[in-house]
Amino acid sequence: PYERTWIVISVALLMVFGVAIVVSSLSLGVEIPGLSARLAPVTAGGVSYDQPWVRELGPGRYEANVFAQMWTFQPNEIRVPTGSTVTFFLHSRDLVHGFKIVGTNVSLMAIPGQVNKVSYTFRQPGEHLIVCTEYCGVGHQAMFARVIVE
Ligand code: CUA
Repeated sequence: PYERTWIVISVALLMVFGVAIVVSSLSLGVEIPGLSARLAPVTAGGVSYDQPWVRELGPGRYEANVFAQMWTFQPNEIRVPTGSTVTFFLHSRDLVHGFKIVGTNVSLMAIPGQVNKVSYTFRQPGEHLIVCTEYCGVGHQAMFARVIVE
């Protein structure tokens, strides 16, 4: 005899939870992840951040806009003079990748819809391997790039 009552109560509770989620997402600005959250800003100050590049800002100051994508980094080779400070902007075109510059303390995650940023000064000439440190499929082991400090 009480079954109908309990069903009504449980359905009503579900509706209350559903309304609470919608209200909180609207009023508190809590974002439910979706397609729109994946769209990172693509231009700023006349510079397009939706493609890979390396640019020189001034003497010894560089920026690199880097894309991780199964199973490569673009640009694949970054050449800078010894002593240069490079600011990396890291994007992912598909899933989560790692971005570790071997021989430095730089270790980032490339996350779809986000831009992660780090700066590093390369004080010694030589070559640094950049490796992916998050498992990303069969090509993971072969996913790397290079920083060449000359
Ligand atoms: Cu990309 Cu592992």
